[in-house]
Amino acid sequence: MCARPISVDDDAVGSAGFGWTPVCNLDRLRAETIIRVHSAGLDLLVIWNEGDVVACDRACPHEQADLALGEVRAGRLFCPRHAASFDLRDGAINPGWPSPPLRLYAIRITGAQICVEARE
Ligand code: FES
Repeated sequence: MCARPISVDDDAVGSAGFGWTPVCNLDRLRAETIIRVHSAGLDLLVIWNEGDVVACDRACPHEQADLALGEVRAGRLFCPRHAASFDLRDGAINPGWPSPPLRLYAIRITGAQICVEARE
């Protein structure tokens, strides 16, 4: 089961809805793979993961490295500092690391617009 709900709503183009913040365009994300965004006072990343869109905290939960400098491979986000990796389905860190999981956020795709539901 996915811990990160995703909805696609092609009929609601331009209306992100309450709590949903438009953060980037789907074509741009496909081209860049990782995009830094700021929403609801939070520094987040939006990630293209093998046809799926994921939103997560920008800071690594281990020692706060900038995950925007990391790498996405095989469904995982690799931290640039210690090379721990996070499962992009649920945020779980690979075994052996004393760290909480990476926090993921709900996303919604409206037309070509990606929206994030971020709350502090
Ligand atoms: S700071 Fe990311 S794994 Fe250590």
